[in-house]
Amino acid sequence: MLLPIHFATWTADVSPGPTPAPSEALLDVESIADVLVAEEEGVVSGYVRLNQPGPLPSHAHVLVINGLAVAPARQGSGIGRRLMASALEEARSRGARKVSLRVLAPNARARRLYEACGFSIEGVLRGEFLLNGEYVDDVVMAAYLDAGATV
Ligand SMILES: CC(C)(COP(=O)(O)OP(=O)(O)OC[C@H]1O[C@@H](n2cnc3c(N)ncnc32)[C@H](O)[C@@H]1OP(=O)(O)O)[C@@H](O)C(=O)NCCC(=O)NCCS
Repeated sequence: MLLPIHFATWTADVSPGPTPAPSEALLDVESIADVLVAEEEGVVSGYVRLNQPGPLPSHAHVLVINGLAVAPARQGSGIGRRLMASALEEARSRGARKVSLRVLAPNARARRLYEACGFSIEGVLRGEFLLNGEYVDDVVMAAYLDAGATV
């Protein structure tokens, strides 16, 4: 269900991981509950994954966007924005105060979407990944839900 979108949207501008193998599982069974999907006429057109950053109670007010993708044929029609709206609403309903994410610096499209949703840059990890022979920055962004992050 999600794998075709994952494979279709994978590029070195989007993910620092190795090219996924066709047999690779995208999600384990436990983490499927953390995924919100966009569905049109019974077909999944996108997904967003919202995880806890770890087990520490002192970190429990933070959730992390850990995967966002829209099927290439459906991109540019507002699905990404609606998925982000749903993720922020879900985070709010779970009592989160902050939602963070990491995005590769060249991924201008995703960065614009995150900014439009109220995320701002918290820091830049310079030369964090070596992708296609070039060192690429990773940008850490966050939205503070009590500061009116919206879409
Ligand atoms: C990033 C992605 C999820 C956006 O989804 P989408 O459904 O195409 O986005 P939307 O149609 O909701 O557009 C939302 C915003 O994205 C930006 N955007 C959309 N199309 C764009 C384009 N062609 N060029 C630049 N920015 C664009 C705009 O800021 C837009 O806001 P607007 O409505 O004010 O114009 C989608 O392009 C995708 O799946 N990319 C590959 C995977 C990826 O990069 N994931 C993020 C990893 S961190």
